[in-house]
Amino acid sequence: MTATPLPVRQAEARHAHNAAARPTLTPEVEALLTEAEHQAARREITSWPGYAPTPVVGLRGVAAAAGVAEVLYKDEAHRFGLGSFKALGGAYAVLRLLKDILAAEGHGDVSAQDLIAGRLRDRVARETVVCATDGNHGRSVAWGARMFGCACRIYIHENVSEDREAAIAAYGATMVRLPGDYDASVRAAARDAEANGWHLVADTNAGGGSDRVPNLVMQGYTLIVDELIDQLPEPPTHVFVPAGVGGLAAAIAGRWAVRAGAERPRIVVVEPLVADCVFRALRDGVPRPVEGDVNSFMACLSAGEVSPAAWPILKAVADDAVAIPDGLARETMRRLAHGAWGDAPLVSGESGCAAVAALLAAGADDALREALDLGREARVVCIGSEGATAPDLWAEATGLRPQDVTGEKTPA
Ligand SMILES: Cc1ncc(COP(=O)(O)O)c(C=O)c1O
Repeated sequence: MTATPLPVRQAEARHAHNAAARPTLTPEVEALLTEAEHQAARREITSWPGYAPTPVVGLRGVAAAAGVAEVLYKDEAHRFGLGSFKALGGAYAVLRLLKDILAAEGHGDVSAQDLIAGRLRDRVARETVVCATDGNHGRSVAWGARMFGCACRIYIHENVSEDREAAIAAYGATMVRLPGDYDASVRAAARDAEANGWHLVADTNAGGGSDRVPNLVMQGYTLIVDELIDQLPEPPTHVFVPAGVGGLAAAIAGRWAVRAGAERPRIVVVEPLVADCVFRALRDGVPRPVEGDVNSFMACLSAGEVSPAAWPILKAVADDAVAIPDGLARETMRRLAHGAWGDAPLVSGESGCAAVAALLAAGADDALREALDLGREARVVCIGSEGATAPDLWAEATGLRPQDVTGEKTPA
């Protein structure tokens, strides 16, 4: 079995172990990701039109190339037709905010179904939700706002691609494009929400504010773990999960600890080398903002600050971080699209392929394999967090159109 050579020097992938990680569930994680909140998220989200668990795809060729027993790719390209796992988080937080407002006004426990059916339509239309985004979170918030009937403003920074902007605007959101990077747009959205009485639906509270909304967003993401546990014939030994501000990784790591306790898999957080805020925080035991340009090819992972709402969970139950070069992600995305390892061609976006890219880097590096305890018998889940959410960019990087791969009329 010969591993397909990687296009990027292995030495460029970096590893950090989290010395503070606990093998089992901690009281802190249990308090932040409660069963009651998970069940509330599950009840609402599974009632939305079009809900279905996203597929798990076996990648035998990638497993052979990485030198592990099994690679299972959780394909979030199919989440509610939005193209990424983010559909679970922002839209759910929008719903919970509206439910809180209506309950406080004496309307009782208004459900997603009530709002979708137009109950209290005029009242809900007077509320505005706002957030900053690299693309996918804003798409989720805008989709949620349209589904539940409130107004929406989405802040994007100068590097967000035009096709991502258009996809969000298609849900009727007012778009605000600003100079600077993601972290600057987070701060601008928080400031304007405060000044105008709008509701900030952020996936991070790095720009200020309480943990509540980012925590609701993470609760939405925890559904992925429950789907996986139902879908997998055997528990995995490792889960590779990409991180921007760390909300997805915290939800996956935390919920798995809640569900499996000491039997939980080893959690490996994947980031771009240029935006390695979670990597540094796990290595140093304390989060600090990454200075300088954090823009990565893995566009949705281009964040320089760990979400304070996610950090206590990551610190407790995220075992390792691997930071990878942009070139490795680009080449992995291209090869997955072409089925280069002998698997069926896969539409995996710039950030969606990061987990597979890091696994391949680890598989090709004996020291890294050993550090991650990644033996030949390892069963690895890769969270494929998005499909071609920027279809033009995906086509340019792969030489294919998403629909050539999926056979669908609209991009996966
Ligand atoms: C496709 C994709 N993958 C991964 C992430 C990382 O999630 P988080 O920022 O919660 O760490 C994002 C965030 O926007 C994303 O859009």
